[in-house]
Amino acid sequence: MLALEKKTVLVTGGSRGIGRAIALGFQKAGAIVYATGSKAESIAWMEGSGIHGSIADVRSPGAIDMIIKDIRSQNGRLDCLVNNAGVSSTTPASRFTEDEMDAIIDTNFKGVFRACQAYFNQQRKEGGNIINVASILGLVGVPLASIYCGTKGAVIQLTRSLAVEWVGSGFRVNAICPGMIDTDMTDPIKSRDKVLEQVIAAIPMKRMGKPEDLSGAALFLASDLSSYMTGQLMVVDGGMTAA
Ligand SMILES: NC(=O)c1ccc[n+]([C@@H]2O[C@H](COP(=O)([O-])OP(=O)(O)OC[C@H]3O[C@@H](n4cnc5c(N)ncnc54)[C@H](OP(=O)(O)O)[C@@H]3O)[C@@H](O)[C@H]2O)c1
Repeated sequence: MLALEKKTVLVTGGSRGIGRAIALGFQKAGAIVYATGSKAESIAWMEGSGIHGSIADVRSPGAIDMIIKDIRSQNGRLDCLVNNAGVSSTTPASRFTEDEMDAIIDTNFKGVFRACQAYFNQQRKEGGNIINVASILGLVGVPLASIYCGTKGAVIQLTRSLAVEWVGSGFRVNAICPGMIDTDMTDPIKSRDKVLEQVIAAIPMKRMGKPEDLSGAALFLASDLSSYMTGQLMVVDGGMTAA
């Protein structure tokens, strides 16, 4: 039903965590999967896995543009772009430096925008499908995540805005909002028993999500099963924002 066999997909930040699970989910569905990491060690595991790995820092203008060019020259088109690469921070709002603010905004917001723009400019004639990995922290606020929350709220608005601007060119643009997922990014929560206990108590399903819990939403949004959806959010959080 998904009909993703031989479709081409690029997952940024596919080296670890949620991006890795999404990349493997697409591979299982028969897609031709390209995934990036920020450095050679991150993508070493992809060697021989069937997933085409490349290094791209999403903060570097032109990096994702080049990768999309290569994918298009090898396959004719890129069917789906998953903008997943991201960073977080637990710096108190009162202590952010310009450099730290810039690093998070550059990765989480400008990085997503650059990739969307590169994909659109290369494929405006054929159309395309973009899935942005935002966060429930783009919908609700929590302490010690001010700039991160801001970038994720911005990604949500970017998703809606591009969906409307590019609909005439056959592009769909949607976002996934994960809740608390067990990856390296949530180490600061997992390493503090009391905090972890409080977080789990606030999740109706009483567990953190696994990275694999996100792949179904990505496969659905990439497929024609969601062909009438654009500019929308899929919240995958064990009920956390419903409580
Ligand atoms: N975990 C959660 O609870 C949660 C909740 C909501 C949303 N999210 C979002 O989901 C996405 C994935 O998060 P995760 O939990 O899987 O994080 P993670 O385990 O820390 O992995 C982050 C990924 O992003 C890549 N990355 C970071 N900075 C990059 C850069 N400048 N250029 C290229 N790649 C870069 C990393 O590459 P390297 O391996 O090379 O470092 C890695 O693949 C992020 O956008 C995050 O904000 C996560």
